[in-house]
Amino acid sequence: MASPPPIDAAAYAERRGRFLHRLGGVAAVIPASSLATHHADVEHAFRQNSDFWYLTGFDEPGAVALFLPHCPEHPFVLFVEPRDPTAEVWNGFRWGCEGAVERFGADRAHPIAELPQRLADYLKGAEGIAFRVGRHPAVEPLVLQAWAHQLDRAPRTGSAALGLVAPCPMLHELRLRKSPEELERLREAARISAEAHELARRVTRPGLLERQVQAVIEQHFLERGARGAAYGSIVAGGDNACVLHYTANAAELRDGDLLLIDAGCSLGDYYNGDITRTFPVGGRFSAEQRTLYELVLAAQEAAVAVVRPEATAEQVHDTAVRVLVEGLLELGLLRGSADSVIEQGAYRHLYMHRTGHWLGLDVHDVGAYRLGEHPVALEPGMVLTVEPGLYVSDRLPVPEGQPAIEERWKGIGIRIEDDVAVTEQGHEVLTAAALKAPAAMER
Ligand code: GLY
Ligand code: MN
Ligand code: MN
Repeated sequence: MASPPPIDAAAYAERRGRFLHRLGGVAAVIPASSLATHHADVEHAFRQNSDFWYLTGFDEPGAVALFLPHCPEHPFVLFVEPRDPTAEVWNGFRWGCEGAVERFGADRAHPIAELPQRLADYLKGAEGIAFRVGRHPAVEPLVLQAWAHQLDRAPRTGSAALGLVAPCPMLHELRLRKSPEELERLREAARISAEAHELARRVTRPGLLERQVQAVIEQHFLERGARGAAYGSIVAGGDNACVLHYTANAAELRDGDLLLIDAGCSLGDYYNGDITRTFPVGGRFSAEQRTLYELVLAAQEAAVAVVRPEATAEQVHDTAVRVLVEGLLELGLLRGSADSVIEQGAYRHLYMHRTGHWLGLDVHDVGAYRLGEHPVALEPGMVLTVEPGLYVSDRLPVPEGQPAIEERWKGIGIRIEDDVAVTEQGHEVLTAAALKAPAAMER
């Protein structure tokens, strides 16, 4: 199947238009990511800030974008690292100021070194400044200085950007609702991620190291043209699956254990997949493993079925919890009435996380889940994960009044996670190519 094309320049321009409209008279300062130290003087692979990327498609560090609705002649200004043959020999190509204008649609571009002397001028006349404090230590003092400068001059000029506001509500509301082109990119990320899970199940054998399975998954991401893993792949055999953020992936896989794999790719333009599958290392579930697997699957399918316009992520979670709790009561792993167990949270030693999150340019994507008292209603174009699980181990104390866990259940960790887009009619499971029926998990 041909891959959908990356988002084009016109789409970024359209996003900027909508963001500028929402800003009203407020100017926004949106910095790019900086390179992060891995160790000593070695850096991690560059990962662009998703807000900056969403508005520019510009994939270099050391840049700052200004959005200036009060300057209709030049509402989009980019500050970038200038062309520099010596620096480019070491660190690679830069688009420079010329590229920023010609290729990325900036109305004006300047070397980043000029930001300190130019920022205050550009912000002059804005009604406020939208900037996320606490995240951009190199840019923050410059924004605060420019703001202070305006406040100092206000008595004489009669105008000043008096308010410093967060850009998040305006920008993240846009990012929460995916365009048809973005949905295509998420489908592509989901497709590659699903293929990797299918491959992983086929190669898994007792005696392999968890990271040898990780290698198969991540090789597939790269072979299919993705940037790599969207987050640290979790390849967790047996009891390791009960550690939610397990990424050591160093243990040997044992016959009789389950293997939980939570992995997804990140495309060149940062759209992500996020899938979890769990299956028996040796190809056959034990009775206890199958029982709990079927319960998690029932919870996951019931929760996915809730996804439609007007429902809420909270209802998706509550549905999964109710199915899990009722099943655990039947199995004797919980005691009491479903209502009282849920109300007291007396299931949380077995299921301790939420059932999902928004998915997009960030794996845990931006966007509010609640506005004040009210859970946000799902709308077509929103994409969320649905990922209930059960984790039976001794790590957490059994709540008072709940039964001790019999040994036969321990060391079973199961999660099943799909990426689900809200559609006019209900939903589309983007990750359906990764099988999850119990029979398909066996061989
Ligand atoms: N892999 C992170 C998550 O599932 O949320
Ligand atoms: Mn995941
Ligand atoms: Mn997830």
